Amino acid sequence: MQSPFWNINRPAVIPADINVPKTIAETASVTSRLMEVLDSNNHGNVHGGVIMRMVDESAAIVAIKHSRRPVVTKRIDQFTFIAPAYIGDVVHIQCQMNYVGTTSMEVGVEVMAESLGTGEMRRICSSQVVYVALNENGRPTPVPPLKATTPEENTRIQKAKARRERTLQLEKELDSEFH
Ligand SMILES: CC(C)(COP(=O)(O)OP(=O)(O)OC[C@H]1O[C@@H](n2cnc3c(N)ncnc32)[C@H](O)[C@@H]1OP(=O)(O)O)[C@@H](O)C(=O)NCCC(=O)NCCS
Repeated sequence: MQSPFWNINRPAVIPADINVPKTIAETASVTSRLMEVLDSNNHGNVHGGVIMRMVDESAAIVAIKHSRRPVVTKRIDQFTFIAPAYIGDVVHIQCQMNYVGTTSMEVGVEVMAESLGTGEMRRICSSQVVYVALNENGRPTPVPPLKATTPEENTRIQKAKARRERTLQLEKELDSEFH
């Protein structure tokens, strides 16, 4: 079944030109939402699953802007909650592209909670989410390369590349252990 992304009733989809690199700034995105009672867990704090869903949705925006294609979540890296978010806080999800392979894209995510009464900002967690861009047949398809515009961005990309190589190697080892 074709993804609703390609539905004729939606505005046209124009996949990004894979020969034209994109910068990190072009696709960076921040999503903010006020935490309400329906977002709570049994302790009255924000449910971790609410944050995880927001992270996946927000990071996908970056991957879709980079590829201008439908994307699927391939991997979500570590998810350590450093501090709780409370009902009444505004949760901000800051997302930036870390690394782009051939069909895959790793988005770096920082989650902050803002206490509206005081303006205090707390770091809640950080993670990396990997997406794969899909073509009309639902198969992985190439995306534009990522272009660093500063030495800091170049370091960020190289670090993500090294991390990805370690992760893929680890997954290969675990796979051969369990199958
Ligand atoms: C995404 C999917 C189409 C990829 O299919 P595939 O046959 O694994 O494709 P490939 O082997 O060509 O891998 C595609 C890319 O993912 C990367 N990849 C594969 N496994 C990975 C992993 N564990 N972590 C990070 N990247 C990974 C590959 O290196 C490749 O990247 P590249 O093209 O940039 O080099 C398929 O795995 C899938 O449908 N998964 C389910 C996705 C989904 O439904 N997510 C929501 C869950 S509810």
